[in-house]
Amino acid sequence: MTAREAVSALRETLGAEVVALPEEFGDRRVVDWSGLPGATPSAIVRPRNTEEAAKALALCTKYKQAVVTQGGLTGLVGGANVLTDEVVLSLDRMNRILEIDEVSATMTVEAGTPLQVVQEAASAAGFYFPLDLGARGSCSIGGNLATNAGGNRVIKYGMMRDQVLGVEAVLASGKVIGDLNKMIKNNSGYDLRHLLIGSEGTLAIITRVVLRLRPKPTATATAWCGLPDFRAVTTLLTRAQAGLAAGVSAFEVMWAGYHDAVIGNLRNLRAPLADAHPFYVLLESVGTDPVRHGDAFEEFLGAMLEDGVVTDAAIASSEAHARDFWSIRDAPGEYQRFIPNHAAYDVSFSIAQVGDAAQKCEARLRERWPQALVLTYGHLGDGNIHIVVDVPGMGKHDHDEIDSVIYDVTREFAGSISAEHGIGVKKRHFLPQSRRETDLEAMRAIKAALDPDGILNPGKVI
Ligand code: FAD
Ligand code: LAC
Ligand code: ZN
Repeated sequence: MTAREAVSALRETLGAEVVALPEEFGDRRVVDWSGLPGATPSAIVRPRNTEEAAKALALCTKYKQAVVTQGGLTGLVGGANVLTDEVVLSLDRMNRILEIDEVSATMTVEAGTPLQVVQEAASAAGFYFPLDLGARGSCSIGGNLATNAGGNRVIKYGMMRDQVLGVEAVLASGKVIGDLNKMIKNNSGYDLRHLLIGSEGTLAIITRVVLRLRPKPTATATAWCGLPDFRAVTTLLTRAQAGLAAGVSAFEVMWAGYHDAVIGNLRNLRAPLADAHPFYVLLESVGTDPVRHGDAFEEFLGAMLEDGVVTDAAIASSEAHARDFWSIRDAPGEYQRFIPNHAAYDVSFSIAQVGDAAQKCEARLRERWPQALVLTYGHLGDGNIHIVVDVPGMGKHDHDEIDSVIYDVTREFAGSISAEHGIGVKKRHFLPQSRRETDLEAMRAIKAALDPDGILNPGKVI
């Protein structure tokens, strides 16, 4: 059976409005943000509901036609890219908010709904949807689930896995599994929801989701801190977690190399502090006591300055001021403008070891390429750092040697090769380094049980 037969059957059953051929979708973007190459799909299927997605997958199984699911295409590991002649199934039309249940504090959405739309709808209804990341305007809830996205507020609210109560999905066979469960407690057998979260389009297509909403914070305090060394950074983290009554909602660390490079290259950014420091931390605390919250935050920072944990700090005086701090932290979305050929890593270590591991990565990179630009930053509260490396003259796809340096150090420190972005195609060959062989065997058995013909996102993850 050929891709041509599968596409004809899809088109006949679902119609030209749902199934577009290459000459019809033209130059529509079909690759993610990883910079990895992608082929042109044989067709793009854009279902309007779960039933159409189910019909499409049943036909793909019948014709053994491989399928790549696409959400907002902001993934960073090539997971949504087409490798040969797969059909793309895009969730972009399934983008509606179906219900907000104010008593149960839930929002039911179609999986193609952009994250920012969910955040804004939650806020308008008097709630808070805490998952947040730089790609918020484009990434979809289905993609957030398929990659178990993390981002900036994991330290207080957890990853995408922790924001979800119900998941409906379509298996390769076209059968629909899961439900729109709103209960926090539901131990009726295996939790398939958690199996699908983080499965990167290899086990099923997520179609509808029940999200958990949180009480809306009424007070936010944000500071930009300069610190003398990494020990001070971890001390600030420990003391903020113990000393801020409302807790820490973001603790984003930036090594000086990151700070100086983004401020130096992106004209819209301004350094919040007059002097240079070896480390910077964006500290945020959200709470529900507008009267005391700001004062308590200021008192805490005053104590940190007095104790020499923090050398200098600026507290945001308005929402716009806080946004200026965040735009320095969100600068990775702008790397293309000054280091288009960079290599990017998403590793995690125990928090205690992050400083040493980062230092070792940088030292080994410099030993090999003295001219390398190394930008290190990330979600320290989660043990997750991003390392971005640009070696002058090195091509966009020639990163094998840099991969070896970073992943060797990751192995030496018993870290993870993917803290939050997933495996996709980019890290597939390194997966055995982070997982034991028996884990991989179990993953292959699950894959074979749910997708026996291997039509869902072949060549990704395992
Ligand atoms: P896509 O890129 O379209 O797809 C990603 C993967 O999910 C693919 O394997 C695809 O097949 C699968 N998939 C998509 N939708 C579905 C579905 N409905 N059912 C089944 N499988 C599906 N990630 C973080 O974790 N933390 C960050 O802080 C962060 N910051 C970012 C900042 C920027 C500027 C950018 C560009 C990306 C960032 N990311 C971050 C990565 C990315 O935004 C997330 O991985 C996001 O969750 C991907 O969502 P998407 O809809 O764009 O998915
Ligand atoms: C970030 C993305 C790259 O934290 O995960 O900026
Ligand atoms: Zn991140």
